[in-house]
Amino acid sequence: MGLISEVRKIDGYDNFYTGLILECLLYRMGHTKPFMDMERGTGSEPKFKTKTSVGAEPALMELFVDSLRDIYWAENHLVKSLPKMIASSSSQKLGSAIENHLKQTVEHVNRLLVIFDLLGIEAIAKKCDAMEGLTKEGEGILESTHEGTATRDVGIILASQKVEHYEIATYGGLVQLAATLGLTEVADILSQTLEEEKQADHLLTEVAENEINYKASEEV
Ligand SMILES: [Fe+2]
Repeated sequence: MGLISEVRKIDGYDNFYTGLILECLLYRMGHTKPFMDMERGTGSEPKFKTKTSVGAEPALMELFVDSLRDIYWAENHLVKSLPKMIASSSSQKLGSAIENHLKQTVEHVNRLLVIFDLLGIEAIAKKCDAMEGLTKEGEGILESTHEGTATRDVGIILASQKVEHYEIATYGGLVQLAATLGLTEVADILSQTLEEEKQADHLLTEVAENEINYKASEEV
């Protein structure tokens, strides 16, 4: 039976079905691909492969890289701003806790460089507005409190913990994203940094509870 007579048989159907059957006929004749490849699978893959799911990974990868460049800027910014917080702390324990975290922060920058290298992409810093805002807030606390007071130390802890919580949220998300993208080694490296951010946060809480908050409450 020829193509024309087969097409005549579908006379009376709407345009969609006409197109569908015509395309199937053309495929059988070797002129084109089948109309719906998705129906030829093994049954184990998703039945409907939408454009969104097919194209999702490159866009997600782009978002991941963008976020890495954002936290790379943030960590570098912290390396520059933490020394002022250390110098402004009255409590020795607070000063050494932030100093210890400064050393860790330098290592966090180095880990991000390792990740950029593993991914074969350039280590470009993208300005992190959130971190810029958080460090400005820290500067504001120094301006509004008196030198040598426990109240200023409390303010430094408040500002530092906001930074830590931002970093915990960021690295937590990046670890999940790396795992979703199948970047196991990258996820492991990011997990190490995430754990150190959590430890730094806990240490600040301890210093506040055991060392500073009570003293500050006694200040006039
Ligand atoms: Fe960090």
